[in-house]
Amino acid sequence: MHQVADNTRTCTMTLGGGSVNFREGETIYEVAERHRKEVPTLCYDPRLEAFGACRLCVVEVEGIRNPVASCTTKATEGMVVRTRTPVLDKHRTTLLELVASENRNTKVDSLSGYASQEFGNLLDRYPVRAGRFAGKKSGTSNTDDKNPFILRDYENCISCYRCVRVCAEQEGDHAINVMNRGFHTQIITEFNNDLRDSSCTFCGQCVATCPTGALGDKKALRAKDTPGEIKKTRSVCPYCGVGCSVDILTKGDRVVGIHPAMDGPANEGALCVKGQYAFDFVHHPDRLTKPLIKQPDGTFREAEWDEALQKAADGFLKVREKYGNHATYGIASGRAPHEAAYTMQKFIRATYGTNYIDNCSRA
Ligand code: SF4
Ligand code: SF4
Ligand code: FES
Repeated sequence: MHQVADNTRTCTMTLGGGSVNFREGETIYEVAERHRKEVPTLCYDPRLEAFGACRLCVVEVEGIRNPVASCTTKATEGMVVRTRTPVLDKHRTTLLELVASENRNTKVDSLSGYASQEFGNLLDRYPVRAGRFAGKKSGTSNTDDKNPFILRDYENCISCYRCVRVCAEQEGDHAINVMNRGFHTQIITEFNNDLRDSSCTFCGQCVATCPTGALGDKKALRAKDTPGEIKKTRSVCPYCGVGCSVDILTKGDRVVGIHPAMDGPANEGALCVKGQYAFDFVHHPDRLTKPLIKQPDGTFREAEWDEALQKAADGFLKVREKYGNHATYGIASGRAPHEAAYTMQKFIRATYGTNYIDNCSRA
């Protein structure tokens, strides 16, 4: 009979020479990560079911002849595990050399996606001889996919299937899948059409988890030649009431992209298409830069702030005098900054003593 792990039970094992505690049911990798043993991974994403494809996370376990994949092997009471030995280093280096032989474009722009530097960073960490196993390659590029958000360059794909798994497990969408095996492996949509003709919701999850930049953020990459460092600012998406945490990417004074925050308490890295890609309005040339006052004939004329604010204040006062406090209802835009939304609700509540205020985030 299958025994269910008791995750309240504390157990002890030896990890990298020291004694450590863990909860029953944890994998060796989870324990090693918590104790900062820096076990390398490629096919692993903590939000997904462990897959055990890349074998980079192998560790030595006393009593087991061959190294085991730590991401799929449960830790057990009394286990003795080594996470770093010359044999493991050689094993990992050879695996990386095999993968690198398929993917020679390892320097991808970090604007490609949240995890896009993972593979390149591992190649820097181990003494990898790129081209050692040079030969056949898998993955046919699909860069002519016309969708406006996701670059699909499978020349850089290493078949970790993180994209396919995140789409199924995290997004529940199953928009992409794997076709064929070995060197003929290809990530495809149903009937191998463009993403626009699939069930893809353009949540961007596959881009965020791709460790090689094979899937890239087309919108962010527009700024790859813009001079300046990329700065990340933590914020909360204003579009709806879920409160997804995001990191806003800026170069100079321009917003160039959005990264989902993997440690966001409400979203744990998930976003929808609006939170992920709908930020162009920030710098859109059609945005108002001056207040407009409506004329009797229905047209608008530009005005200075003092005049516009006075006009608005007169209008609010007139309505209140004539119809009372509950005649005014405030609707704030989901595209306004949080500070503006806060000020708006304060204005309505404090000025009119009503709760007649709303915005699309319902926050
Ligand atoms: S953008 Fe989202 S829905 Fe579309 S393929 Fe990627 S993970 Fe799936
Ligand atoms: S496209 Fe990226 S995430 Fe998907 S299998 Fe290839 S390397 Fe992995
Ligand atoms: S990370 Fe464990 S097998 Fe890939």
